[in-house]
Amino acid sequence: MKTNDSLIYVIFGASGDLTKRKLVPALYSLFIQKLLPESFALLGVSRSPATDDEFRDNMKSAINEFKEIEDTSGVDEFIRKLFYTTIQFDQISTYHSLKKQLDLLRGLLKLGGNTVFYLSTPPNLYGVIPQYLAAVGLQKQEDGWKRLIIEKPFGYDLESALILKDRLLKDWKEDQLFRIDHYLGKETVQNLLVTRFSNGMFEPLWNRNYIHHVEITSAESIGVEKRGGYYDSSGALRDMIQNHLLQVTALTAMEPPSSLEPAAIRNEILKVFQSLRPISRETVKDVAIRGQYLSSTIKGMPIPGYREEKGVNPDSLTETYAALKFYIDNWRWGDVPFYIRTGKRLPTRVTEVVIHFKATPHFLFSGDKYRQSLNQLVIRIQPDEGILLKFGMKIPGAGFEVQTVNMDFHYYELSNQRIPSAYERLIYDSIKGDSTLFARTEEVLEAWKFLKPVIEAWKTEHEVPLFGYPAGTWGPERSDDLIEGNEIGWRYPCKNLSDDGIYCEL
Ligand code: BG6
Repeated sequence: MKTNDSLIYVIFGASGDLTKRKLVPALYSLFIQKLLPESFALLGVSRSPATDDEFRDNMKSAINEFKEIEDTSGVDEFIRKLFYTTIQFDQISTYHSLKKQLDLLRGLLKLGGNTVFYLSTPPNLYGVIPQYLAAVGLQKQEDGWKRLIIEKPFGYDLESALILKDRLLKDWKEDQLFRIDHYLGKETVQNLLVTRFSNGMFEPLWNRNYIHHVEITSAESIGVEKRGGYYDSSGALRDMIQNHLLQVTALTAMEPPSSLEPAAIRNEILKVFQSLRPISRETVKDVAIRGQYLSSTIKGMPIPGYREEKGVNPDSLTETYAALKFYIDNWRWGDVPFYIRTGKRLPTRVTEVVIHFKATPHFLFSGDKYRQSLNQLVIRIQPDEGILLKFGMKIPGAGFEVQTVNMDFHYYELSNQRIPSAYERLIYDSIKGDSTLFARTEEVLEAWKFLKPVIEAWKTEHEVPLFGYPAGTWGPERSDDLIEGNEIGWRYPCKNLSDDGIYCEL
């Protein structure tokens, strides 16, 4: 869709990694597809001094390096729309200057008042910048809409999220806030809705009568990279589960919305969060497993343990692996266990939802041991995006031996379709004002409320152990015990790793 309105896109934290790797390449991709307004300017704002030309040069290299789209014929035209200014984030005077600069750009380039403020900054500025913007009137919408995009984490726990909420909602309206959860921008995450609600054959089975349990995995082979400082104050629960994996859970579990209107979808998502069965502090050790990677050797390469990573406290208790078992107390899901796990330095990168269907009431055939594992629907979010249905077939020959076979669909088979990146999709939606794929305040607060007992129990080691696991393995063995009474355990999806140990077939 082409929008004819004008727009100024202001990125706070413009000298940072996210701007370079994701935001500017995604904006360029929208530009070359003519999905940005015709009158458009991007103002990068950061503490480090740079000229417009230096910023343009850096962003030109970034677009070429982190290419979202093959066609780079418009890069020179695009970067002419880029401007840069320095700011002291906690000084009101610089916000007055920012306002003047925006007015100047608007006059010069004949842009209206529509403005996106994207906070790609450390989280301690999420309360500060919006307050100062409001103090100089930059949140006012008389001359055009104003939207604020906030990266995660939205708070550090329930209490800090409530404080942040109050600070933001003092000056800004809920419909001006767009909280990015980049998992919601992933094509295959959205496809969960389409798979469920466009096919008559899945939805009748999608409930406690036919589903034995649901498993959601998001594994990463990388460690904390250069983000040791941030990660050590966060950990897997806050970094991945509080946001991405609970959102994926909600899309897997929600009721059909009455329409595709943002409010209709977000209301159903919220209901899932509100139905999460509270975890009691006493049971945390049984339903939540945490681990931290230890040094190891992967394919002959020495890999440092988490505590040896740059920026990490050598006595750190921060978890790099977390697995949870929980329930959703509503009519659809009563007593169906949900298992989620995520970790860094696992054997591969894979994110998937696995629906495990119940076994038949009576198994006639041999191979009884496997009957629970016969029917699974695997929704692969990344990589090798696709869907896999596993079911039992007769082994040819005498007798009635059963084996599991796969029926699969891979997104790459739609070869003429380019899959837009999550940021491209979310930036585009935020420009259109479509908030469907952004987390609403109540969802975020419910997620923190749900995790509060776990966060508190994990504060010290004596209450719940922190297990070590060698880098390159599937996390602490203890997490296998979470899926008790279930003969198949977690799905270990990447039996056939490619030689580089990264690509993992569906
Ligand atoms: C981010 C986390 O939100 O998601 C990172 O902060 C993590 O720690 C990343 O690596 C994973 O995203 P993706 O899209 O690579 O699965």
